Amino acid sequence: MKLWGGRFEGQMSDVMEQFNASITFDWRLYEADIEGSAAYAEALAAAGLLTTDERDELQRGLGQVLEEFTNGTFELRLADEDIHTAVEHRLHQIVGSVAGKLHTGRSRNDQVATDLRIYARTMIKRLDEALCETQRALIAQAEQHQAALMPGYTHLQRAQPVPVGHWLLSHFWPLHRDRARLEDCRQRLNLMPLGAGALAGNALGVDRDTLAQVLGFDGVTPNSMDAVGDRDFVAELLFVGALIGTHVSRLAEDLIIYSTAEFGFVTLDDAYSTGSSLMPQKKNPDSLELARGKAGRLIGNLTGLLTVLKGLPSTYNKDLQEDKEGLFDTVDTLLLTLPVVAGVVGTLRINTERMQAALDDTLLATDIADELVRMQVPFRESHGIVGQLVRAAEQQRIALRELPLETVRNAHAGLADHWQQLFDMRRSVEQRNVSGGTAGEVLAAQLAAARACTR
Ligand code: ARG
Repeated sequence: MKLWGGRFEGQMSDVMEQFNASITFDWRLYEADIEGSAAYAEALAAAGLLTTDERDELQRGLGQVLEEFTNGTFELRLADEDIHTAVEHRLHQIVGSVAGKLHTGRSRNDQVATDLRIYARTMIKRLDEALCETQRALIAQAEQHQAALMPGYTHLQRAQPVPVGHWLLSHFWPLHRDRARLEDCRQRLNLMPLGAGALAGNALGVDRDTLAQVLGFDGVTPNSMDAVGDRDFVAELLFVGALIGTHVSRLAEDLIIYSTAEFGFVTLDDAYSTGSSLMPQKKNPDSLELARGKAGRLIGNLTGLLTVLKGLPSTYNKDLQEDKEGLFDTVDTLLLTLPVVAGVVGTLRINTERMQAALDDTLLATDIADELVRMQVPFRESHGIVGQLVRAAEQQRIALRELPLETVRNAHAGLADHWQQLFDMRRSVEQRNVSGGTAGEVLAAQLAAARACTR
C-alpha cells in the first residue's frame, strides 16, 4: 500500500524502494507519530469530518499500534516507506476502511515536521538530564577538593595556582550554558506545524490552536510554506549537540593529559579504562578518548544537515528526509557519552599530593609582581624585575625562593626583607577574592551557585 498510488501505473524499482524508504530509521518517531494522529482524529471530529464513533475507533486502533511498537511485535516492512505510512497501513488492518479518513487534510509534510518537533523536545529533556548528571559529578568532586591546590595552566604551561575545585567547576559552566541553549532551542521549536498541509494549509476547518494545545505546543507555526520546509530546530539541536561534544572533548582532554605518568594528577577508575593487547602494563583512558572522538561525528552531523539545507527551494523537498539520521545519531551519541563522562568524573581519583608537588615557585611570579605594585612600582616595571629574577634562578638552576638575598635586594630592596614569606600558594589563591576568582570564600559561593543549577 502506497499513500500515493492512484496516479501511478508502473511499479517502483527495488533500488528506488530502498533509496526512498526512511522506515529503517524513522520508525523511532512512532510515539510522536501516533500521538499526533490521535490528536488529529480529535480535531477532525471537532471539525465534523469524523463521527465520534469513527474517532473512537481510530484512537482505539492507534492505541493498539502503539502497543505493538512498545512490546516489539510491530512488523517493519520496507514497502511501507516511512513511519507515517506504516502506522496508517497497520491501522487499516486493525480498524478497516475508516483508517482512510485519518489523513484528511493532512500531508506527510506537516506530519513529519510535527513528529520531529515532538521527538526533539522529548530528547531535549533527556539530554538536559544527562548533562545535569555530569554536572553533579563535577560538583561532587569539586566539593571534595575545594581546598587542594594545583597549577593552573595557560598554553599548557604552568601559570598560577588554583584550587582543584575551581578547575573542576571550569568544566561545569560550559555545560550550564549548553543546558540553557537546549532550553532556548526547545522554546523556539515548540510551535506546531500540523495544519500546514502539504504547503498551503488546511481547507477543512481543523482548529489548529486547540490541536496545538492538546499536543503540548505553545502555539502554531505562522506560515504553512515555512512550516513544512523549516528544519532550523534540527540544525539548532545539532549545533548544541556539537558544542556539548566540544565541551566534553575538552574536559576529556584535560583528564587524559592529567592521567599520564608525566602529570599523575588523576587516576581513572578501572571501570572506565581498558588495557593493551600487547603491553601488559598499559591502562588506557579509552572512555575519554572516545568521548573526545565523538565530537567529530557530532560536528559532522551539524555540517551535514546545513549542507543539505543550503540551496533548497522553499517548502518540502525530499532532501529533508536526510534530517533524521544525523539527529538520531547526535542524540544517541550524547545519551551514551554523557553517562560515561559522568561516571569517569564521579569515580576519578584525584591525586592532590601530585598536584601539590607540581606547584613550583614560578607560579607565584605574578604575585611577586603584584607585591611590587603594592610598593608603588608601576606594573610594567615590576613585571620586568620579576622576569629578571626568574631568569636568574633559571640560570643558576635553583628555585626562585633560593635566590641569594643579595640578588633579590639588587632587583628591588623592598622585596628582600620578606622574600621567603612571598612563597605562599594559599596566600596567592586567597588574594584573588573577586567573584569568580580562586579565594575560598568566592569558590564556596561559586559551588553554591552551581549546586542551585542542578536542583
Ligand atoms: N519520510 C518523509 C521524510 O522523512 C516524510 C515526508 C514525505 N513527504 C513527501 N511528500 N514525500 O521527510
